[in-house]
Amino acid sequence: MTQTRKTYIIANWKMNFTPGEASLYLHRLANRLPVSRNPQIIIAPSTVSLQSLSLQINRRQMKLAAQNIYWRDAGAFTGETAASQIRSFIDYTLVGHSERRYLFNESDRDIREKVAAALRNGITPILCIGETAEERKHGETKAAIYDQLIGGLHDVSKEDIHKVIIAYEPVWAISSNKNARPAQPVDIADAATLIRSHIAKLYGKDAAEAISVLYGGSVNADTARSFLSLSDIDGLLIGGASLIADSFCAIVEIARELRNE
Ligand code: 13P
Repeated sequence: MTQTRKTYIIANWKMNFTPGEASLYLHRLANRLPVSRNPQIIIAPSTVSLQSLSLQINRRQMKLAAQNIYWRDAGAFTGETAASQIRSFIDYTLVGHSERRYLFNESDRDIREKVAAALRNGITPILCIGETAEERKHGETKAAIYDQLIGGLHDVSKEDIHKVIIAYEPVWAISSNKNARPAQPVDIADAATLIRSHIAKLYGKDAAEAISVLYGGSVNADTARSFLSLSDIDGLLIGGASLIADSFCAIVEIARELRNE
């Protein structure tokens, strides 16, 4: 983490909690977490809980993110939720999470439209990218990251790139993958350097230095520090550990401590 870029600690609750459970859990977190813009704490609940949590949340303490949006603003798209329908509830949205790419066949084309829809609706997109185990094994990590960046950022102009956050989540290090294995900080440092060099090629050196790059593979309270200490990593996108108040609050505490060093 550097002092110039903000730190983000994001809880991706995935498809967990009813609206009632989500509300109770948010209440518990609110009693324990600091009121802080840095680290910026962001909660990404299921779409069904966004409206009620938006009324409950103290936005000076935490912000809300959607886990997914649809890119059209209205129309006959059964089962989808447009960015324009939920924009008043959220400040951020995940786009292209690996579970969306691989379980729901989202393509780079879908993802680029969603990034554009988020920006059009005043929502900060958190573009998730990362190679599979297979791609890594075949030495295709660099190409996979580059392709996903080019694909997702296709419609993002030089003026807008500062509104985008990148989350690097190697698919092989996410617990929903049945052969998941823990990433080493050095792997993540290398990937973050790669991402910044790709951004430099696409948008220039200043954009590469300014953009926030988060780590989104598995972390817990024991491993968070090693990733948050990396100079090119600006925060964490947390799955399983964000569902346990003790773990999530401990990770936020580590981020605060490192910010103050
Ligand atoms: P886990 O922390 O459960 O491995 O999930 C990571 C993730 O997918 C974050 O979005």
